Amino acid sequence: MKKPITVLDILGKKGKQPIVMVTSYDSTMTRIIDEADVDIILVGDSAGMVMAGLDSTLGITMDQMVYHTLCVTRVKPKSLVIADMPFLSYQTSVPDAVRNAGRFLQEAGAQAVKLEGGQRVIEQVKAIVRADIPVMGHLGLTPQSIHAFGGFKVQGRGEEAARLLKENALLLQDAGVFSIVLECVPSLVAKDVTEALDIPTIGIGAGPHCDGQVLVAQDLLGMMKEFKPKFVKRYANLFETIKGAVDTYAQEVRSGAFPDDEHCFKS
Ligand code: KIV
Repeated sequence: MKKPITVLDILGKKGKQPIVMVTSYDSTMTRIIDEADVDIILVGDSAGMVMAGLDSTLGITMDQMVYHTLCVTRVKPKSLVIADMPFLSYQTSVPDAVRNAGRFLQEAGAQAVKLEGGQRVIEQVKAIVRADIPVMGHLGLTPQSIHAFGGFKVQGRGEEAARLLKENALLLQDAGVFSIVLECVPSLVAKDVTEALDIPTIGIGAGPHCDGQVLVAQDLLGMMKEFKPKFVKRYANLFETIKGAVDTYAQEVRSGAFPDDEHCFKS
């Protein structure tokens, strides 16, 4: 039987056991994922793309993220639940950052928050940590900066970019984050950052040397037919499985095979 996982458990895994993080945005998926052997459920702002069909993560709001987080925590998962702070919920000011981070714990039952960026949001990170809210950092390809980056591009390439990435990771560690997501950075850069830190790194498109890995559940389950970035490995083909099941249902309705006796009430 899985025991509840805390931020301290995650810290303790550094250098001992790889950390497994998966996204979830609703209660049905959370029930399934939490029965599996995962450590962290991330209510990512990728919900904007995966659940709401947006082109980027920029459009999802604080209220929508609180709703998704609540849908996840309502089923009382044993995995650590981290809520992703959406665009404009922390960049605007330190008080905004603390208030919005606090909402995820107070209104939605999350145990920690994640936010994107290093030096430019460091005061926000320090203030949230001072409010006793555990923070996960996120560096590399930070999707809320997509327009500044000019697209979804690998980050940290070249000596100067790699140096800056490591500098930001160390700043975040000093500011008190308990872990850092490294997204779409060269494997050797992620290795160097991981070795320089006392806290765990969790990679997505950052190679095998991170202390853990994260994937969007719908990506690893093969539910997104058209979308398959290089860093995604599909462990199932649920698009075809679900489509096949719905096609069979449609055929049985049309042929009269469903509903049969087993699925009807007797008078
Ligand atoms: O929003 C998200 O799903 C994320 C992960 C990809 C790290 O930030």
